[in-house]
Amino acid sequence: MAKASQPCFIVGNWKMYKTIEQATEFIEKIIPLAANSSNTVMIAAPYTAIAPLAKKTEGTKVVIGAQNMNDASEGAFTGEVAAVMLQEAGAQFVILGHSERRLYFHESDEFINKKIKRALICNLRPILCIGETFEEHQQEQAKAKVKEQLEKCLAELDKSACQQLMVSYEPRWAIGTGLAATPKIVQEMTSYCRELLAEMFGEKEAKKVALLYGGSVNPDNAETFLQVPGVNGLLIGAASLDPDSFAKIIEIPQNVQKQVV
Ligand code: 13P
Repeated sequence: MAKASQPCFIVGNWKMYKTIEQATEFIEKIIPLAANSSNTVMIAAPYTAIAPLAKKTEGTKVVIGAQNMNDASEGAFTGEVAAVMLQEAGAQFVILGHSERRLYFHESDEFINKKIKRALICNLRPILCIGETFEEHQQEQAKAKVKEQLEKCLAELDKSACQQLMVSYEPRWAIGTGLAATPKIVQEMTSYCRELLAEMFGEKEAKKVALLYGGSVNPDNAETFLQVPGVNGLLIGAASLDPDSFAKIIEIPQNVQKQVV
C-alpha cells in the first residue's frame, strides 16, 4: 500500500551548536537542495540564529524554528524566551519536552503542557518529544511511559490542535548514542501513540498529528525509518549538523519512503 501522499518532515535539531556565521553557511548550502526535495525541511536553530536564518530562508522551502521556550506570555524570568519573541524572530515551530530539557533542566510534563498551549496561541507549531529511558525500555515500561507523557503533555488541548501538533518518539537510549531504535520498535511505538491520540482526540483528528522518529538517525538508516508505516518524518540531531549528511537525508525521495507496509 503506497502512502506517498503523506507529508514528510525532515527536522534538524541543532541543539547548542552553530554560531550565526556557521548557521548561515550551512543554510546557504541547504536552500537549493530543499527546493528540489519532496520533503518539508525544518531546522530548529539556537535562539541567536533564528532571526538571521528566518530572513535568509524567506520565500524558500526551509522552515526555521526553536528548540525551547517559556510558557509565560512575558515576565521577570531571567534568561527565558517567550513564544511571541520566537514568532517575531521568524520561528514557525518549536521543539518542546526534548529529553535533554527533561534530564538536565528537570522539565515536567505539566510544564511542557503549559508551553504547548502557549505555542499554539502564538501560532508556533509544537513538536512534542516523548520517549522512555534505557531502564524503562529494559523493564518493558516504554508504552506506560509514553502514555503518561502524552496524556499529561497534551491535557486539556482542543482537538483542533491536532492539525498543528507534531509528536516525536525519541527513546532516550537512542539519542546521541549511535544505537538507533529498530524499525520494528518505531512502528510499534508510533502506532501506539496514534492509538492514544485517537482515544484523546478521536480517530479523525489523531490522523492529522505528524509522528516523527528521533534517535541516532543518519544517512544510512534514515530511509528504513521513513518507510515505517505511520511515520511522517524524522527529528535528527548530530547528522543534521553536517550539510553533506543532512543533504543525503532530505534527498530521500518521498515515493521511496512509503513503498513498504
Ligand atoms: P541524535 O540524532 O544526535 O541522536 O539526536 C537526536 C535528537 O535528540 C533529536 O532531537
